[in-house]
Amino acid sequence: MKRLVILISGRGSNMEAIVKAAQAEGWPAQVAAVISNRPDAAGLQFAARHGIATAVVDHKAFASREDFDAELARVIDGFAPDLVVLAGFMRILTPGFTARYARRMLNIHPSLLPAFTGLHTHERAISMGCKIAGVTVHFVTAELDHGAIVIQAAVPVLPGDDAKALSSRVLAAEHRIYPQSVRWFVEGALVWNGEVVSHRDGAAQHLFLS
Ligand code: GRF
Repeated sequence: MKRLVILISGRGSNMEAIVKAAQAEGWPAQVAAVISNRPDAAGLQFAARHGIATAVVDHKAFASREDFDAELARVIDGFAPDLVVLAGFMRILTPGFTARYARRMLNIHPSLLPAFTGLHTHERAISMGCKIAGVTVHFVTAELDHGAIVIQAAVPVLPGDDAKALSSRVLAAEHRIYPQSVRWFVEGALVWNGEVVSHRDGAAQHLFLS
């Protein structure tokens, strides 16, 4: 059984999607813990209701990013994870932290990377007049929202869309590709070629939703 630790900062709908898929599909994996940097993250309640260990490492209690990341790593490592899953975890991580979990930490970012790294992706896509938007699951490196791509999903930007409408269309795609990506990791289906990740059996690493 592979062990997963999921990091959240808020709602936790991607974490929920992963927990539900792992149970429903009988993955060779268990969610060992859900950790939040915010004590009031709604997702903590879902995790607790499902019998998953929860922990809070409040970033406000630390003087520096290094101190916060050191404590976060200590708490994560207490659960001995094979994979760390960032699911709406809204902290910038230090290079030491990302190196510690190199090739065993995933993130989901609501854009078609390398476009629109950082915040407010949907507002920026709409204001640029993009006709296609989407979401990317990638391995985490020291550079924000970079790293080997596991799956991308594309959705249309429709006339009249505001950020809320676009984000809910993208979120539906997130809930499909994040569980799929984590499942591939725990099944050992992801292969590295240099800095590029592909699926062992050539499964499609893209999804188009209309
Ligand atoms: C998602 O849109 C994710 O892509 C982004 O933050 C949001 C988190 O949502 N990084 P949730 O907490 O998983 O519901």
